[in-house]
Amino acid sequence: MAIHSARIAAPQVDEFARDVARGLALTPKRLPSKYFYDAEGSRLFEAICGQPEYYLTRAELALMQTHVADMAAQLGAGVRLVEYGSGAGIKTRLLLSHLHSPAGYVPVEISAPALQASVAAITAELPQLPVRPVCADFTRPHALPDLPVISTRTVIYFPGSTLGNFEPDEAVVLLRQMRAEMGAAGAALIGIDLDKDRAILEAAYNDAAGVTAAFTLNLLVRINRELEGDFDLAQFAHRAQYNAMAGRIETAIISRCVQDVVVAGTRYHFAQGEAMAVEISSKYRLDRFDRMAARAGLAVRRCWTDPSRAFAVLLLEPVRV
Ligand code: TRP
Repeated sequence: MAIHSARIAAPQVDEFARDVARGLALTPKRLPSKYFYDAEGSRLFEAICGQPEYYLTRAELALMQTHVADMAAQLGAGVRLVEYGSGAGIKTRLLLSHLHSPAGYVPVEISAPALQASVAAITAELPQLPVRPVCADFTRPHALPDLPVISTRTVIYFPGSTLGNFEPDEAVVLLRQMRAEMGAAGAALIGIDLDKDRAILEAAYNDAAGVTAAFTLNLLVRINRELEGDFDLAQFAHRAQYNAMAGRIETAIISRCVQDVVVAGTRYHFAQGEAMAVEISSKYRLDRFDRMAARAGLAVRRCWTDPSRAFAVLLLEPVRV
């Protein structure tokens, strides 16, 4: 007889080890950013969202508060809401509480503690709503659980400009996967940060209190703990720069000196000033986003922005073929 596993089971540690080994062997070195979000990383990310320089969260929340009724009307009744990556879920709770008789909520999240916390928060506020969490990497194909009632359509909610953390080609692959998952009647509601002044962007990713620096360097703390690494935290620094040509913030961890680091028994050499790429945060132009969506077989049906046009939430639907 099959033994039922716990509903929230985290993906394997081996995958983390493999991804880190691969990234450290590249020139230039890079570390995969999806591993930022262990318990401490999730806590630090929540703190980033509260920093005065990090305008994204406030702008997105403000625009949701203004337009959520319109969004819910556009999405229609009986929606199965699938969220890719679940944070503290304030925006999600706002959206769910305005949906017309939703069929249920399916958060897909790689971090088990973050997933557990968001399920608890949603259940406390909306006790009637069926919630079926999936602990998985949302960039990989994952089976969606059934809900007690059949939904009219699947809507994928992807807030926080997380799409911008993918290279353009990867973003198109992810949008295509979403299109397949939502089906012909489905939709996606996607938050994207818009291109703007360099000073505003660089301040947002280099907050004065140093929370973002602690957040990126926590990746090294996690490697030390989980993969027997010996990164000396004092010898690495956070750096975030706006690349105007590419229209994105590029976050890196810089080696402050010549040094060797051992991770899972393998030695890696760092030059002084050597940068390890850890994250890109794309800043979109609305006139170009249409083309990217079209490459994934999706069309932008609605666009909501905040008063300062810092941030946008887009409603995407499959293009009929
Ligand atoms: N999706 C967020 C963003 O790109 C994630 C994030 C915020 C982030 N600050 C960061 C990622 C600093 C790496 C480093 O804005």
